[in-house]
Amino acid sequence: MCGIVGYIGEKRASDVIIKGLKRLEYRGYDSAGVALFNGELEIKKCKGKVVKLESLLTKDDQARVGIGHTRWATHGEPNDINSHPHTSSNGKLALVHNGIIENYNSLKKILESKGHTFYSQTDTEVLAKLIEDVYSKNSDDFKKSVQIALSQIEGTYGVAIIHSDFPDQIIVARKGSPLLIGVGDNEMLIASDASAVAEYTDQVVYLDDGEIAVIKKDDYQVHTLDDNSLIKEVHELALSIEEIEKGGYEFFMHKEIFEQPKAISDCLRGRLDPENGTITLGGIKDVLEKMADAKRLIIAACGTSWHSGIVGEYLFESLAKVSVEVEYASELRYKESLIGEGDVMIVISQSGETADTLAALRQAKENGALVLGVVNVVGSTIARETDAGVYIHAGPEIGVASTKAFTGQVTVLTLMAIKLAQVKGTISKEKADRLIKELNRIPSKMEKILEKSSELDAVSNLFSYAPNFLYLGRSFGFPVALEGALKLKEISYIHAEGYPAAEMKHGPIALIDEMMPVVVIAGTNHTNDKMVSNIEEVRARKGRIISIITEGNEEVENLSEFSFSVPDTEDEFSPLLTVIPLQILSYNIAVNRGCDVDQPRNLAKSVTVE
Ligand code: AGP
Ligand code: GLU
Repeated sequence: MCGIVGYIGEKRASDVIIKGLKRLEYRGYDSAGVALFNGELEIKKCKGKVVKLESLLTKDDQARVGIGHTRWATHGEPNDINSHPHTSSNGKLALVHNGIIENYNSLKKILESKGHTFYSQTDTEVLAKLIEDVYSKNSDDFKKSVQIALSQIEGTYGVAIIHSDFPDQIIVARKGSPLLIGVGDNEMLIASDASAVAEYTDQVVYLDDGEIAVIKKDDYQVHTLDDNSLIKEVHELALSIEEIEKGGYEFFMHKEIFEQPKAISDCLRGRLDPENGTITLGGIKDVLEKMADAKRLIIAACGTSWHSGIVGEYLFESLAKVSVEVEYASELRYKESLIGEGDVMIVISQSGETADTLAALRQAKENGALVLGVVNVVGSTIARETDAGVYIHAGPEIGVASTKAFTGQVTVLTLMAIKLAQVKGTISKEKADRLIKELNRIPSKMEKILEKSSELDAVSNLFSYAPNFLYLGRSFGFPVALEGALKLKEISYIHAEGYPAAEMKHGPIALIDEMMPVVVIAGTNHTNDKMVSNIEEVRARKGRIISIITEGNEEVENLSEFSFSVPDTEDEFSPLLTVIPLQILSYNIAVNRGCDVDQPRNLAKSVTVE
């Protein structure tokens, strides 16, 4: 969840680390800290954001080695003491950690009985003291001590360690939390996310689970925990600095909403041939036959990615005539798994690092299923561990609230569903041609919506202080209702629920009164009549109708207190358009309420703990 950055080289380590932490802050941001080696170890840490940490640093420190952290607390409230780095009892070792040490309590008791005093409530501090304890018995080999200590850890970690006896090295290790090495010219960086190193190098080495690396400014050596030496592939990073900067927007979320036409064009590029009515998906071409043979598809994901999974369910079922189950990855891993050979699982993840999604993937693979990924971050763990997959190519998404990744995921699932339908022969040539041509028009239709986004100002202002919102949709509008509600609650802290419109009668209708804004997604043409009845039911109870309609839908427009129209499209593609006004509505309301849109409270962009 958190961010880890480290530097060893010729530059001022604190400058590189602070800059890197700012880039990673979206991953977790309740506290921040650094350990610098300046002749001796110097630790600065505090509750709050990286700018606060920056103000604690002296302008004249000359350290050339250091590690830094932004925390998303799992054990112990966010406060100065619980912030990372944590240190050994003799003050010679400092470490930062991402993940959870599940057996920290039993280890802590043993270490306390050996005389160690603990100052924080974190699980992480145990690891600092444990390494110290092992090192006191293996004082000739520090790396080995770290390996031994880590082999006693149950849980997950991405960890970076410095020790004042070894001022020319950083040790990093990974199990379940991402870490990479940025290989520079007479300098090395380490980070939990490539965006922290992109400014300095485009050469990166991704650590895999169970690996440890000793990093010097001109060299890195990677080993397994039982000390087998490894030769790692060096990857070229395709990440430009512009992509990870705000570029004039106040918030990343705003930028990312407006980037959607480009993100979808990038996603379609080279894959869609509207002239010939064909789709090319190189990443899954070798497994299409297997997909075609599957009796069912299982989609596993979390949060917004789970919502795009529901759109995927409707697409695969209606186009490729295959039955689909959409599962919360977190639930799937703890229920009796019937997934096995012959099954195809699709995991969807923007970050490619979500712990539950990764665990569901691993379990399904172990049981013999074919696992495909729909992932945004190139080189991420999920992307590397799936059997095959299709990248979203939406570019870095930094705002915690997912926007362009959602539309990117839906686009990829659409491509996959049409392709599979063509392979299986479940779609007529006319329909496939029509869909492919229309998919190609989606980016320009998105542009049209964005051009008139100010039409949403009045309704955003009117309802900024509503305590509750209800979102209703049918068919392809239902996952959009879920997504609209999630967007609103996560960034504006307004309670919101998304429901299939007809389900309203089975409970939520009791909430409706003249105070309740009800957002109806009426962009799916084939359910329009039913939607009209549901709107009437809300109106009869004085609910306030805000509708997202297809251009020309006067019937719903006339029933609404406020309506916003999107260009007409095929039903299957309606989520790609109707979700955009909902993203903007949430954004406007969050800004009106003075919320920190990109870093909403308690949330982290990448959830790498269970
Ligand atoms: C989306 O706005 C959320 N912040 C969150 O639900 C997110 O979609 C979820 O954590 C899954 O992340 P992933 O796509 O990176 O796996
Ligand atoms: N479990 C550790 C803590 O609570 C690390 C959390 C994180 O990944 O930021 O401090």
